[in-house]
Amino acid sequence: MCGIIAITTSSKVNVSKMITDGLKKLEYRGYDSVGIATINNGKINILKDAGTIDKVNNRLSLENLQGTIGIGHTRWATHGPPSRENAHPHSDCTGNIIVVHNGIIENYLELKENLLKKGHNFSSETDSEVFAHLMEEELKQKNHELSFINAFKRVLAKIEGTYAITLIHSEEPETIFLARKDSPLVIGIREDTKFAASDIPAFLEYTKKVIVLKNGEIATLTPQAVYIEKNGFRIQPKPVIVSWTAASAQKSGYPHFMLKEIHEQPIALRNTLKIDLNVINKASSKILDAERIIFLACGTSYHAALSGYHQFQRILKKKPVYKVIASEFESYSHLFDEETLIFAISQSGETLDVMKALSPARKLGASIISIANVVDSSIPRLSHISLYTKAGPEIGVAATKTHTAQVSLLARLALQLEYDTGLVEKNEFNQNLESLISEIPQVTRSVINQNEFKAKSLASIISNQNHAYFLARGMSIPVALEGALKLKEISYIHAEAFPAGESKHGPIAIVESMFPVIMIAPNDRTAKKMLSNAEEMRARGAYIISVTEKDHNIIERSDYTFIVPKTMSPLVRPITYVIPLQMLAYYAAVRRGFDPDKPKNLAKTVTVE
Ligand code: G6P
Repeated sequence: MCGIIAITTSSKVNVSKMITDGLKKLEYRGYDSVGIATINNGKINILKDAGTIDKVNNRLSLENLQGTIGIGHTRWATHGPPSRENAHPHSDCTGNIIVVHNGIIENYLELKENLLKKGHNFSSETDSEVFAHLMEEELKQKNHELSFINAFKRVLAKIEGTYAITLIHSEEPETIFLARKDSPLVIGIREDTKFAASDIPAFLEYTKKVIVLKNGEIATLTPQAVYIEKNGFRIQPKPVIVSWTAASAQKSGYPHFMLKEIHEQPIALRNTLKIDLNVINKASSKILDAERIIFLACGTSYHAALSGYHQFQRILKKKPVYKVIASEFESYSHLFDEETLIFAISQSGETLDVMKALSPARKLGASIISIANVVDSSIPRLSHISLYTKAGPEIGVAATKTHTAQVSLLARLALQLEYDTGLVEKNEFNQNLESLISEIPQVTRSVINQNEFKAKSLASIISNQNHAYFLARGMSIPVALEGALKLKEISYIHAEAFPAGESKHGPIAIVESMFPVIMIAPNDRTAKKMLSNAEEMRARGAYIISVTEKDHNIIERSDYTFIVPKTMSPLVRPITYVIPLQMLAYYAAVRRGFDPDKPKNLAKTVTVE
């Protein structure tokens, strides 16, 4: 939700080009309006407008602003529609204090009312603008000689809600002021240049040396120094060196990040499966020690959680396993205690709905295991055991490689649990493990190669349709849900997933000629019933698309078929079966003329409730 980047440098370059490039890397966080402010010879320059970065840059030449210090913002609107006025940066009445913000200032109405009474003029409908005026007001108080940083702290104490805030002032022409609460901010360090951004790819081209700002920390950056404090005490954080490469945050010849990320899955999964054995063992014993397990996630990560839920239920038998959409955690909070293990899954590690559930769970003594893709992000930090997918940065808003990496990590854990619970012997476990590790990258590569052209062709057929159903049974239901989510979020075709058996209890009512019904049909115990469900749909004129194995009878009853190889381990199925659906969604979006990397109204990292 909104991307921020700020840069201060002592090298004689204008930062506006670096800021514009950085904003492009953050565009997945929001893209309805954009703006940049720099300070040049003590004078503030601001350019901003509604529209995507490229459009606004073409119109206003954002990248030509002069100055060696600057801040930029790409917006996902919360308060006030996308417009020039509501675009960040925002300033106070004097125009000397400039702010960009990600998050929501919940008490802004009351703060704004007070400021209006004191004569402040507001230019936007945003909650964020109050911050600049509050700073102005603090600095006006002549009765106490306030340093700028103290005024900044006093304003932070007045605001409620969530924020990543970055601020510059014309009288402090080298310094960037930062603060975070719940919304992410990372600092990038180079000898003569310091960066702050919502995410690492924004400055990865210039440095891999990173400090992740923690909740409640306040920082000041000058070209030479980083100063961080919390509750009045100086913090000496140890920077980490990230392993991501600058190329991993570029399209590298692909037309979209999403397609690149689909193709990166074999490598992402192979790297993810190289997980340290000690971490897996620790996670397994935590799971076995718990009285109950609650999977918790949102969006695509929730669909990975569902795969984990099915596996854990199968292996742990009578131990209760729950699956909870993070924003609905309150209905389950009575289960939060020392006996509960929360298994949180989040690509970004920053999703606020997940964090809001984990905080009370932790306070009530629950143990937390998490899977995240962004090292040292907030959710791993709230966890007792952090597992990481090694998928590299994912820029496309619609998650692909991080989803299958999450599922592969859950499959690895399921194998461990099968052994640790005595379900399989050592020899079998070793064989299963070996085949999982060798099979996953190879099989994902062949699924991509064999089905990409088919996905493209099918996209031209279904892109004229307004609806689609995805049907599955048992352990394939998460795949159907993910397939439907992918299609609707980027191609805007209305898509829904159902347990296939349930389709006759309502959904079938709207099926008519050529209505696309996508059957996720592995040749397992569900085969016959899936075939019957396909027949029922066919009898109403549906266009049957099956994702299946080459010996399944459903092929004869299908109008279109994606074949995936039969894998040694059924644990691999949620990966192989979902890949054709990712490609179908991608090509349907492209065919319908939409940018799959930037679906409307969505943001990749959702840091509001
Ligand atoms: C947003 C994104 C989804 C993502 C979900 C959860 O809605 O658009 O792609 O699955 O957030 O994000 P997380 O970072 O927690 O996996």
